[in-house]
Amino acid sequence: MASFEFFAPCPRGLEEALAAELAELGRLAPVSVGKQVPGGVHFAGPWAAGMAANLHSRIASRVLLRVAQQGYRSEQDIYEFALRQRWEEWFGYQQTLRVDVTGIKAPVRSLEFITLRIKDAVCDRLREKTGARPNIDTSEPDVRVFAFLTATDATLYLDTSGEALFKRGWRLDKGAAPLRENLAAGILRLAGWRTDTAADMVLYDPMCGSGTFLAEAAQIALGVPAGAGRRFGFEKLKGYDITAWQTLKVQAAEAQRDARVRGVPSTIFGSDISGDMLVKARANLERAGVGDIGLKQVDARDMSPPVDRPGIIVANPPYGERIEVRGRRGPRDGRDGRDDDERYSPEVQGNRGGFQRNQPDGVDAEFFRAFGDALKQRFTGWSAYLLTADMSLPGQMRLRESRRTPLYNGALECRLFRFDLIAGSVRKRGDSESKGEDSAPQA
Ligand SMILES: C[S@@+](CC[C@H](N)C(=O)[O-])C[C@H]1O[C@@H](n2cnc3c(N)ncnc32)[C@H](O)[C@@H]1O
Repeated sequence: MASFEFFAPCPRGLEEALAAELAELGRLAPVSVGKQVPGGVHFAGPWAAGMAANLHSRIASRVLLRVAQQGYRSEQDIYEFALRQRWEEWFGYQQTLRVDVTGIKAPVRSLEFITLRIKDAVCDRLREKTGARPNIDTSEPDVRVFAFLTATDATLYLDTSGEALFKRGWRLDKGAAPLRENLAAGILRLAGWRTDTAADMVLYDPMCGSGTFLAEAAQIALGVPAGAGRRFGFEKLKGYDITAWQTLKVQAAEAQRDARVRGVPSTIFGSDISGDMLVKARANLERAGVGDIGLKQVDARDMSPPVDRPGIIVANPPYGERIEVRGRRGPRDGRDGRDDDERYSPEVQGNRGGFQRNQPDGVDAEFFRAFGDALKQRFTGWSAYLLTADMSLPGQMRLRESRRTPLYNGALECRLFRFDLIAGSVRKRGDSESKGEDSAPQA
């Protein structure tokens, strides 16, 4: 059986979690997990391994098939290297093409120029072998070629995913600042939420927005394949293993059928202050096949445990200018009968200068202090996992984290703070709020 080299990019910080997830695919196809590099994991196996990763990985952003690797000295070397590859064995001139290039310390004039040269090489090759050049389509191409350049080597990849894998096919409405599905899934894994553990755990997202954590958590608990609701780029390529794909699809359909019979676990809960967001979350959850999740409109400061046994809280609270904390209290809170959406819409409130970070007397500090108090007072025995780019969050919440994990939300450097809400974890009033900020990041 032919073996291929694959590379799966993922959000930075989730490489180890992705490697573990890929190793678990061994139950479906022979997979040999290789090196982890910042932002991805190498693996090898037959076509079935690459297809299973596309269908089942919740953490990978894509699955790339390695075509060839070679040293280079000049831009012409890269053109000739790309020209030598047998692209015609994978696709024809009738299919549209897109080329993307990334590089680290690559001694080239510009990556844009290399992108053009590789595109020329692929098109020249197809014209020579098949009589015509493919058209370029940068928005919805049939085929994507990726190149990765280091200071000395060029590697060419054929994309097997098509649209990025975090696009599961169920998101209708994004809301203001949705979390990428693969980052949410990675966080759930770091929090110990896996197919074999989820049945016994309680999960609550008190700022659930469009419902990303909830949809991922429910699908994981039910064993629904991440990509069950979408198509993949390899389905447009010539050489993939159709028989193995049929087998994987039948297994996926069976898993979905079993999931429908079992129904969504009654241990997953979400709330948000915004009724609009909850409408969006409900639509998304229904499309993801997990519409039975309990949702409630609650200000996170007033939250209480949804069941009488401890579990985990996962959330990415509002941060920075992307989205603001709503439902502010204090002197500005007139409780005038308007709902929070209206009261804090820009038209009503005017420009409030965005989100103020780490200002103990500011309104946002008040939110995080009150949110921290709610955790301390009502969630004893729970663990909370909060993703934020605000490194001062533990200080603002007056809670000491038991772990901080660096993660990237796109280009935004974040931390996943874990708080174990046991007696004694509560930071005393007046205690230095910088303690949490000063502790060294743990990988
Ligand atoms: C960054 S978004 C969360 C995005 C969500 N994880 C998703 O994937 O769509 C923050 C959410 O916090 C909600 N929020 C803001 N202030 C709140 C409050 N006081 N109580 C509860 N939710 C609040 C917002 O409505 C928004 O949906």
